[in-house]
Amino acid sequence: MKIVLGADHGGVFLKNEIAERLKAEGHELYDVGVHEETRVDYPDKAVEACRMMQEKQADFVILCCGTGLGMSMAANKLPGIRAALLADSYSARMAKEHNNANCLCLGGRTVGIEKAMDMLKAYMGASFQGDRHARRVAKIDALAAK
Ligand code: RB5
Repeated sequence: MKIVLGADHGGVFLKNEIAERLKAEGHELYDVGVHEETRVDYPDKAVEACRMMQEKQADFVILCCGTGLGMSMAANKLPGIRAALLADSYSARMAKEHNNANCLCLGGRTVGIEKAMDMLKAYMGASFQGDRHARRVAKIDALAAK
């Protein structure tokens, strides 16, 4: 899959570990940084990472900050982006099956690499179920125009 990754200083270590694992699995990665603990404002990284998703050049985005909260708040302001803050594998699967999330947010200070990979695996192994969920997702997307 084509996956974009982005992080601030609070999420950089988790993002780098995720990138290593996903690369080893053969995924095509676009990492917009940060690559070290450089202090940045997470909304700037959310915008940068989500651009490729908005241009439909990626399958999904992974954003890491300290808690995942700020990244998800910022990403959800961007047209075409449906960001999900991941907490467990069930929610991760539902984020795809019901919400067709295209941006996953994780907390580098709240989640370890093994749990993060379990959640990403659950998401990547799932498919959007469409039907009534498509109607609801279309209503979410329409909110950006209000
Ligand atoms: C940075 O200290 C921290 O506020 C940020 O990484 C994130 O947790 C915000 O939601």
